[in-house]
This record gives sequence, C-alpha cells and structure tokens, in this order.
Amino acid sequence: MRFLIINGPNLNLLGLREPDIYGRRTYEDLLEEIRKECAQVGVEGDTFQSNHEGDIVDRIQTAYGVYDGIVINPAAYTHTSVAILDALKAVVLPAVEVHLSDVASRESFRQVSYAGMACVKTFAGEGFAGYGKAIRYLKSYCEGDRT
Ligand code: DQA
Repeated sequence: MRFLIINGPNLNLLGLREPDIYGRRTYEDLLEEIRKECAQVGVEGDTFQSNHEGDIVDRIQTAYGVYDGIVINPAAYTHTSVAILDALKAVVLPAVEVHLSDVASRESFRQVSYAGMACVKTFAGEGFAGYGKAIRYLKSYCEGDRT
C-alpha cells in the first residue's frame, strides 16, 4: 500500500513558527515521525511539502493511479482552496485531513475546511501524533474498514 503525505504552506517552518501553537519540533522531525509510522504500519509513504497552491494541486493530480490514499495538511489553504478540494475529488482517492492545532477552537476564519469536504476523516489538535493516526486510519480504510 502506498500513501502520499502532503503538507501545505509554512509547515516547512515548524519549530520556528508560532511554537506556542505548533511546538518546537521541526519539519525534519515530522518527516522522521512519518517515516517511522509508515514503517511500523507497513505502508510506503512519500512526502511532499509546498508553499504553492498550484503545486499542491499538481501533486494531487499526479497521485492518480500511483497511490492508494492521501494524508493532507493543507495548512492555510484548508480554509481558502476550492482548487485543492476539486483536485482531491477529481482523483477519487481516499484522503485523510490532519491539523497539528485544534482548528475548531481557533479564529473564525479557520472554521471552514474546503479540503476536509473531500476527506473521509480529520485529525486535529493532536500534534505530530495526528499524522500517525491518519496513516493508520487510512490503511484500515483502504482495507475496507469503514468504522
Ligand atoms: C494548520 C492549521 C491552519 O489553520 C494553519 O493555517 C496552518 C496549520 C495546522 O496544522 O494546525 O498553517 O493546518
């Protein structure tokens, strides 16, 4: 089983950006955590990070026929990007949304998630652990578990 794990804008600055919200661990630390989780669960995981909406759309499009599912933290594009929503819908791959912070308890402009509308599940407010949960959930989902 092969998953694509996508991270959106400013997540490359983890560790530096708003540590009170996102913690002090870096994007490299996150990649290491994702690698470990994929190895433990027994899936192949490719990671991709971009600060550019169109590049994220392109990467989702090229996932078609290559990956079994997508884990995505679209970061700020969560709340603005119909293009990412449409790309996720177009490739009809199961997708799981992740947010490090608890977006539900933050500003009003973070209360809508366009990408989330094309996702089978969301994990938010669990920090790096949310990615692990998303990978495990996606694996079960791809194996036919719909709970
Ligand atoms: C985020 C939440 C978004 O609202 C924000 O714009 C981010 C990160 C998170 O992981 O908590 O960049 O997706």
